[in-house]
Amino acid sequence: MTDLKPARILALETSCDETACAIIENGRALLSSVVASQMEIHARYGGVYPEVASRQHVLSITPVVEQALAQAHLTLADIDAIAVTQGPGLAGSLVVGMNMAKGLALGSGLPLVGVNHLEGHLYSAWVHDADETIPAEPQFPLMALLVSGGHTELNLMTDHLTYQRLGATLDDAAGEAFDKVARLLELGYPGGPAIQKSAEEGDPNRFKFPRAWLDETHNFSFSGVKTSVLYEVRELKKKSSTLPISDLAASFQQAVVDVLFKKTMNAAREFGAKEILVAGGVSANRVLRQTFRAQTEFPVHIPQLSLCTDNAAMVASAGYYRYALGHLSQMDMDVLPTWVLG
Ligand code: KG4
Ligand code: ZN
Repeated sequence: MTDLKPARILALETSCDETACAIIENGRALLSSVVASQMEIHARYGGVYPEVASRQHVLSITPVVEQALAQAHLTLADIDAIAVTQGPGLAGSLVVGMNMAKGLALGSGLPLVGVNHLEGHLYSAWVHDADETIPAEPQFPLMALLVSGGHTELNLMTDHLTYQRLGATLDDAAGEAFDKVARLLELGYPGGPAIQKSAEEGDPNRFKFPRAWLDETHNFSFSGVKTSVLYEVRELKKKSSTLPISDLAASFQQAVVDVLFKKTMNAAREFGAKEILVAGGVSANRVLRQTFRAQTEFPVHIPQLSLCTDNAAMVASAGYYRYALGHLSQMDMDVLPTWVLG
């Protein structure tokens, strides 16, 4: 996009358990990205403990912002706008990033742009490292699969910031299913990477777990496959004290990937999409990435690995397009009201 005004955006993301700050130029070139992960702390509880997350954000936010500015060799005087995730997410976590962002904006006289976390995930596919050759820009109409720990949905993007939600999960999000099955198989938290690792040694065809095609719709359902793994584990435990963990992990992973891939392909063809985008924490999954890269005729955009899970670079990118295009209203904001200063 050549006709958009140039701008540097500093963004904050604190919707869940990562305290993150990033600076991006013109929506795509990443100047710095800092993520302070709380993963080890929450692993003790087997999932995110909201009160602890909130307190960790308070401790981390100032050093994380200072580090992002230092890494980019910039000061606030070099920034054109502040962006921040305003939802959805944990209220006690969001409020830390939002208050910091409001403080930075008020203190420096910069405009403040609220960004929807899911929109942020989609824009992670626009981001590239500043010193890397610029990858092709996603082209509209774009079929966008968002697969995270809290959401699984298919959106048709007909232009920047313009979404038609075609379907979503009726029960568990794909990432949530990974996390629950990992717990069941005692693989630990977070479940996605643990299942992926275990699955590398396993046979994806050993167990035929169900695929919920929900053919007449673009919706998803992952509770059936999760329950089916549970029943299989119960049956196996009756026969032996050692479980074929890797085969269970690989077969479960394959069932989820099959559904995500085929349903995205069907929707892309039905709606005449030019390209496909896959984003959100589960897009870090190696089998999912390989499947999308190898098995389709469409150009496919998947964020670099470090930008699949929560980060602020994606918020900076979405914030840039909102700022540059003057679209300061939000996608479905179901958590907090829309606000913009400046
Ligand atoms: O996008 P994200 O960081 O947070 C939300 O916005 O929810 O996604 C986190 C989710 C978790 O459920 C995690 O298990 C999953 O993404 N995940 C993966 C992988 N890495 C993270 N799932 C499958 N394979 C992975 N390699
Ligand atoms: Zn996320």
